[in-house]
This record gives sequence, structure tokens and C-alpha cells, in this order.
Amino acid sequence: MSTVVAIDGPAGAGKSTVARKVADRLDYAYINTGSLYRALAYAAKTSGIAFSDITPEFLEGLTLEFRGADLYLNGKILESELRLPECATGASIVSAKPFVRDYLMPVQRNAAAQQWIVMEGRDIGTVVFPDAEKKFFVTASPEERARRRMAQSSEVADGATFESILADIIARDERDMNRAVAPLRQADDAVLIDTTGLNIEQVVDKIAAYCR
Ligand code: DC
Repeated sequence: MSTVVAIDGPAGAGKSTVARKVADRLDYAYINTGSLYRALAYAAKTSGIAFSDITPEFLEGLTLEFRGADLYLNGKILESELRLPECATGASIVSAKPFVRDYLMPVQRNAAAQQWIVMEGRDIGTVVFPDAEKKFFVTASPEERARRRMAQSSEVADGATFESILADIIARDERDMNRAVAPLRQADDAVLIDTTGLNIEQVVDKIAAYCR
């Protein structure tokens, strides 16, 4: 028996920081599902395959698993490589492929077996765990998200400007919201949290209060 708190929302809304802190506060495990799509982008990149060219056969040759909150690709832990801007863009591209989403479904569902979790992504409350006990849709204006992204140097490509980051965020929103399978959208029963103008602790307080 497990309990799932689903946190979905667009790129750069602060979901990861908030979800991790909510998990700490509730003493639940924390799972970031974007890292799965980023891991597949990383696997393609290191194999010299264009993101748009990955195939089901390529995926069958990989082993991808969570050990706790840590993600392992072919037995090796993935860390800073997942934060590369290229992997973020690649993740958004590979995630539009239905066979990629099918491949990652059991990885996500298994991560929730036997433990209480906070799981964040784009389709957790709509597709992966439509029966999640608590659902939140965390968002902020594109400009606010671009400002926050600029402040996170590890996620910013060399030479990037506010305008280029904003354009990248808008392009990612477009792709994530308009794909045919499991598009980014707020679940009907999710609580909307607009974080524009709020700090992290205020957002964590709000979500934790709903969970108690
Ligand atoms: O949360 P993130 O920025 O690490 O996600 C990277 C990309 O992965 C995002 O642009 C869309 C995709 N993604 C998805 O389609 N479904 C999820 N549950 C999580 C991420």
C-alpha cells in the first residue's frame, strides 16, 4: 500500500525544489520523473543517436531504475549529467514518443510500490497515478520561470540570455502541452498553485497544509 502526492507543472516552476522539501516535511520518498526522460536523452546523446531517432529497440537495450531516489542507467548512477541543457531539450523531444512513455510507466509505478512518495513531473496526476491521494499543479508565469532559471547556473547554457532562456521555456511549454500522448495539463482534481511572487517556503507550506 502506498500513498502518492502528485506534483505536476511546466518547466522551471520550481517543482523539484518544492517537491523535495514537501517530501522531507512529510517524511515521504521523493521521485523526480523528469530525470527519467533526461536519462533517455543522455543515453541517446552518448550513443550518438539524435533525440528524434531513438527506437523501442534502443530502449530495450538499456536498464533504467530508481534505487531509492537515485537513478541508475546501465548500473551507473546519473547525477549532474542530467542537468545539462541539452538533456532538458532532449527529454522534451523523446517524451513526445508514445513508446518512450510506455517504457517509463512501470519504472514510475514500481518506484511507488511499498513506499509513500511525492512524485513530480508533467502527467503524474493525470496518467501515471490518476488515483493519487493528493494532486497539485504548480506553475508560474514564463517570465518568472525564466528569471529563476537564469539564477540556476547549472541549467543555463554558455552565452544564454534572459531572452533565449524565455524562448526556450516557451518552446518547451508548447511541446509539453501539445503532444498527443499525456500532454501537460492540470488534472481536474488537482489544486492549482501559482508560485509567481511566492518564495519556496510559502509554496511548501501551502502544499504541506493540504496534505495534512
Ligand atoms: O521536469 P524536467 O524539466 O526535468 O522534465 C524534462 C522533460 O521531460 C520535460 O520537458 C517533459 C518531459 N517530462 C514528461 O513528459 N513527463 C514527466 N512526467 C516528466 C517530464
